[in-house]
Amino acid sequence: MKDRIIRILTDTGRNGIDQLIDYMDEGGYFEAPCSSGRHMAKAGGLAEHSANVYEIMISLDMAFGAELNYHSIAICAFLHDLGKMGQYGKPGYIPNMLKGRATKANPDPEPYQSEKKPYISNPDLLYVDHEVRSIAIVSRFIELTEEEQQAILWHNGLYGPFKYEIQGKETPLYMLLHFADMWASRVIEEEEGEADDE
Ligand SMILES: [Fe+2]
Ligand SMILES: [Fe+2]
Repeated sequence: MKDRIIRILTDTGRNGIDQLIDYMDEGGYFEAPCSSGRHMAKAGGLAEHSANVYEIMISLDMAFGAELNYHSIAICAFLHDLGKMGQYGKPGYIPNMLKGRATKANPDPEPYQSEKKPYISNPDLLYVDHEVRSIAIVSRFIELTEEEQQAILWHNGLYGPFKYEIQGKETPLYMLLHFADMWASRVIEEEEGEADDE
């Protein structure tokens, strides 16, 4: 998975992409979870979710005959949630460690990671919407096109902080990213979550 993501991003040929990939690697992109307890709340979840979004965007592009630039699809799919990785050397999520119940036999139990909500947002990182953080990080290394910047910033659509700005200004790239993100998180990854629970 990691090698494939690196290859697809490298193939974009975008100036600075190698440095961005190094930053992602060192910053924990490939090990980060995608949420604290909803979809893909596991190590590697962020990369897996991004790969799901990529596959869906490619499928939708073909189904709709949209013929979007496939490097733009790769940039949007793999970088839209980059902000979840964290910033300023601090991870976006940290393990949600719970205290064990003390008993007479074991008065000082080891903390353990919650199964229901394995991660929490890092309290040491000031709150910034993750789509804004994604743009801030990516833009340090590569130049996004106008469409890519807008699609990443708006990827949560009417569920996100920019919900009052979008109507009438949608681009095909934004719509593909938003819908693929929804389908990945609400359908594909939900089903996987249910299967994991069984
Ligand atoms: Fe997101
Ligand atoms: Fe996402």
